[in-house]
Amino acid sequence: MFLHGTSTINGRGHLEIGGCDATVLAESFGTPLYVMDEELIRRRCREFTQAFKESGLDYQVAFASKAFCVMAMCRLIEEEGLTLDVVSDGELYTALQAGFPPERIHFHGNNKTPDEIAFGVDAGIGVFVVDNFHELALLNAIAGSKKKTVKILLRVSPGVEAHTHDYMLTGNEDSKFGFDLGSGGAMEAAKQALEQPHLKLLGIHSHIGSQIFEVDGFRMAVDKLMQFCLAVRTETGAEFRVLNLGGGFGVRYVEGDKPLEIADYVKAITANIYSTFTDNGYPVPSIWVEPGRTIVGDAGTTLYTIGSMKELPGIRKYVSVDGGMTDNPRPALYQAKYEAMLANRGHDANEETVSIAGKCCESGDMLIWDLELPKAEAGDILAVSCTGAYNYSMASNYNRIRKPAVVFVKDGEAEVVVRRETHADLIAGDVIPARMHKAPSEAGIR
Ligand code: LLP
Repeated sequence: MFLHGTSTINGRGHLEIGGCDATVLAESFGTPLYVMDEELIRRRCREFTQAFKESGLDYQVAFASKAFCVMAMCRLIEEEGLTLDVVSDGELYTALQAGFPPERIHFHGNNKTPDEIAFGVDAGIGVFVVDNFHELALLNAIAGSKKKTVKILLRVSPGVEAHTHDYMLTGNEDSKFGFDLGSGGAMEAAKQALEQPHLKLLGIHSHIGSQIFEVDGFRMAVDKLMQFCLAVRTETGAEFRVLNLGGGFGVRYVEGDKPLEIADYVKAITANIYSTFTDNGYPVPSIWVEPGRTIVGDAGTTLYTIGSMKELPGIRKYVSVDGGMTDNPRPALYQAKYEAMLANRGHDANEETVSIAGKCCESGDMLIWDLELPKAEAGDILAVSCTGAYNYSMASNYNRIRKPAVVFVKDGEAEVVVRRETHADLIAGDVIPARMHKAPSEAGIR
């Protein structure tokens, strides 16, 4: 397994993260356990800010909280001086409860409800990223009813659809997100937005995809957005102050994944911005990005305890762990690949190929197919790396399995930032209707 960040194999042959022995973490906090390498998260934040400082551009780096939204993370992001992107009232609530400054929050989403919009307006959040005409009118009306003016960006779909290892140009964008550039929807939105008395249009936003390794897709999007800025000025006279390029920069999950360094992503996507704007006599807008996975992805490791095993001679050996698709749905959802090792036997040579099964009642609940491991025994601790993004945040209670705890580790200390769910948590929202308290005969059941 590739060792990310502060991860290392210590003198006892155990995986160590943030100076903490993974076997001790498993013993102390139980498994499954999400372990987050705090120093690595902070390093990633600083790589973004440093790269932008070097670009000479005005900038904002927002953490896309959908990747990992818990109060301690919001606090860390605030400490690192980043802004925060939320997409629901739940993420917004989490950030506000963590004391995150509302004016540094951006609110995304293709169907914000009236209640969510009102929540954001009341909280005084920095920017709404308006996705569609319905929202444009709704936000203006809600802001007006509260006698406020809110800052907005327009989400545009630039007609560049990026995939993991590949991108393609789509003449007519087929996406549920944003105002379409090609068909003129984005221009119409800009005109309407400029006329709304309770909206202040700062600029535009685009997000072309996630886990992208090549920069060509980003560059194409940037070019189209810059051309759009110029076109809007020609048609309306308005100049945008913000160009938000979204997130989507790839990280290394498994061997063969070849992401760029953060500094190189930033350099590549910002390369033409200054010259294009200044050549056109256009004040260079502030460049915003909103990475999620790049900030937290490789900082996460999930620890599991190995239990049952099943050997099918000539076919495969299943090794089951005490978690699965409930704490990491990505293999089942996206056929995502992960690397893993035995955290308590870091010096042992690999001896067999096994497949790691989760404990859910689903044949598809497989975490890793064909993994090389030493001969595993029940009680061994399996560490799966690069689980920091879209694992805890996408976890479920399927099979009424409790969500694991999350610990931050740093300099040999471990802090629980989310406690393990209890059985009581599972039924906390359940209500048995009053009529069911009655004896069956009284309820009319024979
Ligand atoms: N900004 C917007 C508007 C987004 O929709 C996203 C991700 C991001 C920023 C952050 O993208 P990142 O830097 O993390 O790639 N659940 C999937 C990923 C879906 C991402 C959705 N939007 C996964 O597990 O891979």
